Amino acid sequence: MEKAIVMSGIRPTGFLHLGNYFGALRNYVKMQDTYTCYFMVADLHSLTTHPDTKELKHHVARVLAENIACGLDPDKAALYCQSHIRETAELYLYLNMLAYKGELEKTTTFKDKVRLQPDNVNAGLLTYPVLQAADIMLHRATLVPVGKDQEQHLEMARNFANRFNHRYGQVFPEPHAFNFGEELVKVPSLDGAGKMSKSENQYATIYLADDDDLIRKKIMKAKTDQGPTEPNSPMPDYIENLFLLMKLVSAPEVLQTFEAHYNSCTIRYGDMKKQLAEDMVRFVAPIREKAEAIRTDEKYLREVMEKGAEKAGKSAKETIEIVREAIGLKYY
Ligand code: TRP
Repeated sequence: MEKAIVMSGIRPTGFLHLGNYFGALRNYVKMQDTYTCYFMVADLHSLTTHPDTKELKHHVARVLAENIACGLDPDKAALYCQSHIRETAELYLYLNMLAYKGELEKTTTFKDKVRLQPDNVNAGLLTYPVLQAADIMLHRATLVPVGKDQEQHLEMARNFANRFNHRYGQVFPEPHAFNFGEELVKVPSLDGAGKMSKSENQYATIYLADDDDLIRKKIMKAKTDQGPTEPNSPMPDYIENLFLLMKLVSAPEVLQTFEAHYNSCTIRYGDMKKQLAEDMVRFVAPIREKAEAIRTDEKYLREVMEKGAEKAGKSAKETIEIVREAIGLKYY
């Protein structure tokens, strides 16, 4: 049986954090053994919001390195840069003829970005979902592992695929959001409010590039209180979050011990945070060190990008030939 095709894009802005790891990357790593996977660094998309490209090369290297350090394997998945696949631009152009100005203008992410950068409301920003649909459709992918914030873009991709098929004949399957059968793990932030994210409170988020001392500092600063006074009390959010983090990185016995201390009102949060900090350091340090070694190995990164572009390019070329034929652009 043919393997289902998985495609996702990773923006080369910001550093990867624990939320990206447990919420997305860990799933990508599992998928690469089961599906035909295309994982792409969305460098062209980044031009819509980050026109200054001085740091782009470093960002791309870092994103690739961090993803490989977390377990993405360039020999299993196609790990590539969007700009290396020229066919993306061509499919994007065709899909732009099937995308309506009205629907693009009412996209939530577009409206958010207009608010954030009112002086640079460029057409690329408006057609961002069209470019994303081109990324996916170029591999005729059906499974797209993305977070909730991308669901509207996926719905648009389905619409563009259906419109194309309707006008020019059946070429594209419908792409759907996908998370490998498991609930997406939300990693809570250290300030008790919401989840870890790139843009919010930096001190409440643990990045895979944080050094040991910074990790310890961030965890020791996390909010706690005097502890429960009644046995088996419900936990306030910020305490529950510490337990959730412990569940992700500590041994099960460690977690059980502190839960028992909590339930018997003998917990000492200072000790708990020290333990969590050490377990977190043990978890993050090897990833950070591996990423650092890869990031600075230009030769290796070049090989990764070339290998990825070759795999993604092959699939892209096959699709683009079918698309040209279907549209009626083959004159001889
Ligand atoms: N827009 C996605 C994000 O912001 C990144 C992305 C670009 C993407 N192309 C994609 C995601 C294709 C899934 C499929 O995270």
